[in-house]
Amino acid sequence: MNIIKAEDYNQMSRMAANYIAAQVTLKPNCVLGLATGSSPIGTYQELIRRHQAGDLDFSKVTSINLDEYKGLSPENAQSYRYFMNTNFFDHINIDKTCTYVPNGLEENAEKACADYDAIIENCGGTDLQLLGLGNNGHIGFNEPDEVFAKGTHCVDLAKSTIDANARFFDSMDEVPKQAYTMGIQSIMQAKKILVIVSGKGKANIVKEAFTGPVTPQVPASILQMHPDVTLIADKDALELL
Ligand code: GLP
Repeated sequence: MNIIKAEDYNQMSRMAANYIAAQVTLKPNCVLGLATGSSPIGTYQELIRRHQAGDLDFSKVTSINLDEYKGLSPENAQSYRYFMNTNFFDHINIDKTCTYVPNGLEENAEKACADYDAIIENCGGTDLQLLGLGNNGHIGFNEPDEVFAKGTHCVDLAKSTIDANARFFDSMDEVPKQAYTMGIQSIMQAKKILVIVSGKGKANIVKEAFTGPVTPQVPASILQMHPDVTLIADKDALELL
C-alpha cells in the first residue's frame, strides 16, 4: 500500500484530485467509482476548479457511486444522488446518464441490488475507486459483519452510523436505517483504489484498518489485500501509524 501524508484536509483534497485527474487524463473514458461523505467534498471542489480552468474533461467518463439510502428520492437533499449532483456533477461536463447511484426509491431490495450489479458489470467494473472511511471501518455502507458481503446488498445501518448521520436530518425519525451499497467484491475488483481520510477522529480506525488483522469486523481491512491501494490522509489521521 502506498501511504501519502498530507498536511491537512485541503492538501489531502488537492493530492487526491491530482490522482483522479491523472486517471481521467490518461484514460478519458474511464469508469470512476465515487464516494460521498465529508471526506471527498474538497476533492470534488478541486476537480471542478480544474475542469472550469479547462484542464479536465469529463465528457467520456462513467461514474458508479458506492451507495444510496433506501427510501430517499434523488430530490431529497440528504440523498447521495442529490449530494453527487450538487457537489460534483452539476459543475462538470459529465454526461449525467452515465452517472450511476443505486435507486433508493426501489422498494424491492433484491431488484435494486441485482439492477446495480448489472450496471457495474455492464460498465466492466471500475478503473479507480475513491473511498472514504467510516468511523467503524465501513467502506461504502459495508458495515462490520461476520462475513465480507460480495455484491450490492441492502444493509441495516450500524447504530454508530445512524448516530453519525443524524446531524444531517431534522429528527432521528428521518434518519434512514437502511441503505443499498456496492459489495466488497465489487470494490476489490477496482483496478486501483484511492482512500482519503482526514482528522484525529479517524486515527484509531486508520491504524486498525491498515495495520490490524483483516476481518469483516473492520470492513476496510480487506483493502490490505488489494494490489493497488493508495491512502492519502492528513497527518492527524495518520498520527497513530
Ligand atoms: C458514509 C458513506 C461512506 C463514507 C462515510 C464517512 O457512511 N456511506 O461512503 O466514507 O460516510 O463519511 P465522512 O467522509 O463524512 O467521514
